[in-house]
Parts: sequence; structure tokens; C-alpha cells
Amino acid sequence: MRTETEPYDLHILVCTNQKEKGASCGPKGGQEIVDHLKAWVKEQKFKGRVRVNKSGCLGKCESGIACVAYPKGEWVIEAKPSDLPAIEQWILGNSP
Ligand code: FES
Repeated sequence: MRTETEPYDLHILVCTNQKEKGASCGPKGGQEIVDHLKAWVKEQKFKGRVRVNKSGCLGKCESGIACVAYPKGEWVIEAKPSDLPAIEQWILGNSP
């Protein structure tokens, strides 16, 4: 085993979890946000510096869709696919 510091300038996790019962991010459009952001990051030529991954439950199910960006650890909650332009601005604001 070895440890490594953050290999990306910005690493964004977007919850796509689908629970059988109760609120969850998947049915609200989590995967749609991931798919869009991955394509957008590639278009912006951020590939290799900004990484977008889908994640399991981030513990904010009632206020999902939940996203978090590291290394700052800043969260976006209550995100919707219609918020994608604002999420792109959030990413631009967090990109070193
Ligand atoms: S299901 Fe998305 S935060 Fe729990």
C-alpha cells in the first residue's frame, strides 16, 4: 500500500445512488449530471486536471442531488439537471 496526494486539481463526486426506499439522488438525475459534466470537462480541455466521478450515497439523500469537490471539500446540494450551467460555473470557480 502507498498513499498519494490528490492527483487532480479538482475532483468532483456526484451521487447517483438509487435506494429502494426513500429519497435518493439517482432518480433525481444524478447520472445525467455526471454524463453532462464528463463531456463538458473534456470540451473544456480540463481532462487530466479535473475529474468527475459518480459516487454512491454521500449522506445527503433528502437534499440530493449531492455533489462534492475536492480538495476544498465544497458541496453542492439540491442540484438538478437544470442547474448544470450553474454547476459549470461552480467548477470554473473552483478550478485552480
Ligand atoms: S442517495 Fe445521494 S446522498 Fe444519499
